[in-house]
Amino acid sequence: MAKHVYGIDLGSYEIKVYDQEKDTIWTEKNVVAVSRDGKLIAVGDQAFEMYEKTPPNIRIVFPMKEGVISDFQHIQDLLQYLLSSGRTFATGGEYTIAVPADVTELEKRAFYDLLVHSTAKARSVNVIERGIADAVGLGLDVKRCDGVFVVNFGGETTELSVLAAGGLVFNQRLKIGGKQMDKEIVDRIRRHYNFLIGMKTAEKLRMKVGINDDRSGRTMEIAGRDLLTGMPTTKSIPTSLVRASLKELFEKCVSSIDALIDRTPPEINHIIQNDGLYVTGGLARMEGLPYYLNRATGLHIHTSRKPKYCSVRGLKDIVGVEELKSLTYSMQEETDRWM
Ligand SMILES: Nc1ncnc2c1ncn2[C@@H]1O[C@H](COP(=O)(O)OP(=O)(O)OP(=O)(O)O)[C@@H](O)[C@H]1O
Ligand SMILES: [Mg+2]
Repeated sequence: MAKHVYGIDLGSYEIKVYDQEKDTIWTEKNVVAVSRDGKLIAVGDQAFEMYEKTPPNIRIVFPMKEGVISDFQHIQDLLQYLLSSGRTFATGGEYTIAVPADVTELEKRAFYDLLVHSTAKARSVNVIERGIADAVGLGLDVKRCDGVFVVNFGGETTELSVLAAGGLVFNQRLKIGGKQMDKEIVDRIRRHYNFLIGMKTAEKLRMKVGINDDRSGRTMEIAGRDLLTGMPTTKSIPTSLVRASLKELFEKCVSSIDALIDRTPPEINHIIQNDGLYVTGGLARMEGLPYYLNRATGLHIHTSRKPKYCSVRGLKDIVGVEELKSLTYSMQEETDRWM
């Protein structure tokens, strides 16, 4: 019988899966649409399409929050649907999953339960810290590197990882990502213009505007609701307002990066100063980000190719290359220790 081997990067915004048998990577938005009486209406990309367009009797649920599972039932529903759609998982497979390094035992257990005790019925679950998966995806020699700083800018988290001697030496998960930036944009526009826009509009705006400094006083026409009249209409918004929202949150990330570098021992610190930062995650595609980070940290910035897929590309190598498998650990053994 063929072995079903998967690598999973379970993101708050999007699930990325490597299927070894088919040698493909697929993604699905991490979201479900449910009716008031709890019936599943749509999942994944299809549910995301419905986001902010649904009637009041349909709820859109994002079952992960800031990198961890917050709604087990719904993420299980999502997985079950993907299983039954046939295009994805086979039951009884071997899974390697990338998880944030600083999650609690209980949060880690939820990842395990999702794969073993749901319809996936995993035969084995191996875990790897996301920062290590990213470093492998970046093509770095993880086992021999001594001082690599990876920053994963994601949908709801920014994860900082320092690797040395084949392992993770420092890690920090910041609750800052695309979603928090979109929320900041929505809030600012409401405060300054009494104008309410949706999170999806904010996301599109963020992607178009980016973080590049632009003194041209440009504006953008966006659709929303005038809160004084209650009417849907369009408004001209200065792009500088969007940029200011982004900058505030990126500045927090930069302070944390600086603080973490300061905590590293001199030998590692020296290597990072020379080598710079490796940047991954979907938000790394933000227009102008490498330039901004370079100016703010003074470090050289390496951006991963297709940064959103960097961790799952790492997982592909990890499940496929014998030497890299030792970077993972078995969740079963971890669990047995706690029984
Ligand atoms: N071209 C782009 N410009 C700016 N942002 C982008 C671009 N493409 C994707 N993004 C943003 O990247 C984010 C998703 O990134 P990613 O898939 O790495 O997150 P995730 O892994 O699901 O979340 P997390 O790791 O925080 O749990 C979204 O906020 C999305 O808006
Ligand atoms: Mg991620």
